[in-house]
Amino acid sequence: MCGIIGCVGKKSAAPYIIQGLKNLEYRGYDSAGIAVIQDGKLLRLRAAGKVNALEKLAAKKNFTGVSALGHTRWATHGKPCEANSHPHTDCGGTLAVVHNGIIENYLPLKEELKKKGHVFRSETDTEVIAHLIEENLKTENKNAPAEKRLLSAVQKTVKRITGAFAVGVIWSGAPNIIAGVRRQSPLAVGLGDNENFIASDVSAFLKHTKKAVFPEDDEIVLISPSGAKFYDADGCQKKPQITKIKWSSAQAEKGGFEHFMLKEIYEQPDAVADTLRFGTDDMPSIFGVDKNEVKQIKNIQILACGTAYHAAMTAKYFIEQYAGVPVNADYASEYKYRSVPPAAGTLVIAVSQSGETADTNAAFKKAKSLGFKTMAICNVLGSTLTRMADHTFYTRCGPEISVASTKAYTSQLAALYGLALFLGRENGGLSEERFKSLSEEFFSLPRLLDETLKMLAPAVEKLAKKVYRRETYVFLARGVNYPAALEGALKLKEISYLHAEGFPGGEIKHGPIALIDKNLPVIALMPKDALFEKMLSACEETKARGARVIAVTDSKGAEILKNKVSDILVIPPATPFLTPVLNAVAVQLFAYYIAKLRKREIDQPRNLAKSVTVE
Ligand code: G6P
Repeated sequence: MCGIIGCVGKKSAAPYIIQGLKNLEYRGYDSAGIAVIQDGKLLRLRAAGKVNALEKLAAKKNFTGVSALGHTRWATHGKPCEANSHPHTDCGGTLAVVHNGIIENYLPLKEELKKKGHVFRSETDTEVIAHLIEENLKTENKNAPAEKRLLSAVQKTVKRITGAFAVGVIWSGAPNIIAGVRRQSPLAVGLGDNENFIASDVSAFLKHTKKAVFPEDDEIVLISPSGAKFYDADGCQKKPQITKIKWSSAQAEKGGFEHFMLKEIYEQPDAVADTLRFGTDDMPSIFGVDKNEVKQIKNIQILACGTAYHAAMTAKYFIEQYAGVPVNADYASEYKYRSVPPAAGTLVIAVSQSGETADTNAAFKKAKSLGFKTMAICNVLGSTLTRMADHTFYTRCGPEISVASTKAYTSQLAALYGLALFLGRENGGLSEERFKSLSEEFFSLPRLLDETLKMLAPAVEKLAKKVYRRETYVFLARGVNYPAALEGALKLKEISYLHAEGFPGGEIKHGPIALIDKNLPVIALMPKDALFEKMLSACEETKARGARVIAVTDSKGAEILKNKVSDILVIPPATPFLTPVLNAVAVQLFAYYIAKLRKREIDQPRNLAKSVTVE
């Protein structure tokens, strides 16, 4: 997730760009850059770090050009540094590109362009767009108007690239025009008074105009000081649908949601889709192990803290089921101080959103010192953890602003599920046929998450109103969903400051049942899988002691549970091992709405930090 902005009008564009980038900084702040067309030339300035650093440098330049692009980066391809910062330019230095998203086929395109003589100066996927447009411009009729040539070159470029993108382009050949195009990544067009904008979202230009257009996939927009023209993928001009934005700037940053946490809960289908932007054939390179190395993996040790630890625990079920390799999930803070016997064929995986959690990094360091092969599953490119790891799988969720982790968690689960399938295929734990059918459903996870959100959100909000006054909550689940029960309890503790516990359904009778009293909410995560009947018994045991049982289940389970429990929340049917990802959404929403009714500081709960960098 990065932030892009383009502005063309009658006044110097640089101040608009810097201000807009500050509003987009929540989308990433590894580095920032600006490109301005001035006196027929393209000028570019980039700086590592936050937009402030760019602002200071820009103040020393005399940018007067009225057409400019800006970018604030969340690194995905290539470490955060000046050379990888956007805007990226072509060989001739006449055009510049800013991009948010992932170009999936950038490697073959890069090779093709290199063969044609193009010289690349960054490690990014984005740079291929600049060179492709340059290449396409060469074939345009030189006598055609510059605007037409730019439109046609962008169109041809868009047809060659796959993946997700929102792109802005400026070219000194058409100095008063900015081109914008999107596919799956967000792009808004702002229509002002003699000044027009493109940006990742409206917060970047709301100060100047509240009139916006949201282009569709592959639609190209050309903005100039006098207006904006929209073209479909075949170059036919379209009539735009103008929306009047009612949000304030602060609301716009949160996409109109009241809190970043809720926004991030809703971003999960996209975050997981971006994390899963690879095919089954890419798995060896994505997970950094080939068939021979997989065969040498005799056991796996997963280290993590907090929410990431629950992803690690869930992975034990995935991997042992599909690949038959023994897995041990450890709190990183415990691993560091216990004796770890040497074991040949050990793969150590650290799971961390930030890559900067001191406990996780210290445990990982110990694993390295013991000579184990290491892998990181991490959301932040270039973070300390990733620099230590032999290989890193990046979850590509963009910055997670809310302290309580949501989209990073479901993306970690997706990454670990993919790893389990891959290991199973390579070591023979899964037949090719089974691998194929499981993979098919796995790659449809974004759609399942989308359905889950639609099915759950209003129902959970309503339910929260009924139970939020209770002081204690119990989450129950079994098997692969047990860690989701722990995550439900953790989420509730973190953001509502209420007492919550998660237990395996079979364990409640061995002690925790003493907690149960009249109306105590018991949230039972119980899809209609092989353990459903066992979960039903656990529910009955708590119900007999007066508990208010709230079941999260699929439609088949709901049919059996009606009249047996107080409330039912329905998730879509899915392979049993994918249900923890869907149940995660249920418990996140539950915690969110309870905390909201309790009027808590949801995005920044007391005593917590997003990344705990001390042991
Ligand atoms: C902190 C946060 C938790 C998070 C944990 C691990 O304790 O408050 O929400 O799950 O760190 O963070 P990581 O960045 O390593 O995933």
